[in-house]
Amino acid sequence: MIYLDYNATTPLDPEVEKSIKDALSVWGNPSSKYPAGCTAKALIAEARKRIGQCINALEEEIIFTSGGTESNNWVIHSSIDYFNSCKAVGDNNNCNIKPHVITTSVEHDSILGPLNYLKRKGDIELTIVNIDEQTRNILPSDIAVAIKSNTVLISVMMANNETGTVLPVQEIGKAIKKKEQELGCKIFFHTDAAQAIGKIAVDAKQLNVDFLTIVGHKFYGPRNGALYIKHLESEKNLYTPLLLGGGQENGWRSGTENTPMIVGLGVAAQLIHKNLEKYQQNMLDTRNYLKLKLAEAFGKGVVFNYLPEVCLPNTCNFSILGDGLEGYKILEKAKGFCCSTGSACHSDKCEPSKILLNFHINPAVAGNALRISTGRTTSKKEIDDVVAELVEIRQSLCNDCS
Ligand SMILES: Cc1ncc(COP(=O)(O)O)c(C=O)c1O
Repeated sequence: MIYLDYNATTPLDPEVEKSIKDALSVWGNPSSKYPAGCTAKALIAEARKRIGQCINALEEEIIFTSGGTESNNWVIHSSIDYFNSCKAVGDNNNCNIKPHVITTSVEHDSILGPLNYLKRKGDIELTIVNIDEQTRNILPSDIAVAIKSNTVLISVMMANNETGTVLPVQEIGKAIKKKEQELGCKIFFHTDAAQAIGKIAVDAKQLNVDFLTIVGHKFYGPRNGALYIKHLESEKNLYTPLLLGGGQENGWRSGTENTPMIVGLGVAAQLIHKNLEKYQQNMLDTRNYLKLKLAEAFGKGVVFNYLPEVCLPNTCNFSILGDGLEGYKILEKAKGFCCSTGSACHSDKCEPSKILLNFHINPAVAGNALRISTGRTTSKKEIDDVVAELVEIRQSLCNDCS
């Protein structure tokens, strides 16, 4: 089976796997003061340093979590708690009004899910900014005009998991800073970098974000993650822990640390710090080769649902046009490869992905979409085999295709 679904998850890099196996023997509790605990604590400190280096952050700005979903939920919880504790405006009258959150219509469910839930409960005001139809991206000015005096959090992903679109996070950050100064209140800025790390350079300082979500299994690391939280000397009470308990992670995230997985995450981050350009090159070469081969094989019968100039190097979302060529039907037939579709299927009914529709992809086209995401070891031979199989599948499924 040729694996071409690296945006869904990645295998462990062999170096990461080895580091995890080695760390399994370091089973001491990192909070213990005797040698077994101290060894584990030192390994965790090293991993924190490596992750910091990978995204240009200080060690103390990296807090380990169980993964992206936890990190994203934590950002929301912490920001709303800050607003509700009325720290937002000195003596403020704001205590009577709800916190306002801004996000985009193409975020992962671990952002849109909790925000929609809080809105339904009546706990927050929510503005969901749509993708601009012309540029097929978020416009920083659309975010800026949505900011109000009670805006406490703006969450914009770095790159979208389905189309690979890279969102203008740095520009949005600048627009937010300007508004923040005008309004004189704190607006937290978060980016979910789950899909960006390991594929493009991620620099927390340059992005000027308060929070940044890190997800290990998207960059050949284990199934845990971290949250970057900007260190602010002057403002110590800005953040609230999600999990309370034994006070691990400097009180920010309680729970005995998962030493082996943290070590693995550190090694995965170190590999990116050393080899990002090499990894990027292979993803880009094979993704571009795929695009070429699909165009050669299907001509006008294939459309590409991504914009190469603002796309991750590894992602190719495309639709083979014709009746009976829905993405999920193609994948049912595929024997030699696996990738993702542009449909969400529940029991026996499949709908085009809401995210693709929100990117203004025509519903008929979105229903036929396939997402191929290449990885560090994807080869051109694999791409040739996949395209050859797609040609066969199209012939067997499509009644009205010549
Ligand atoms: C953009 C994005 N954010 C967050 C997540 C959530 O990560 P996890 O399911 O590992 O918690 C994912 C995973 O698919 C993702 O693609």
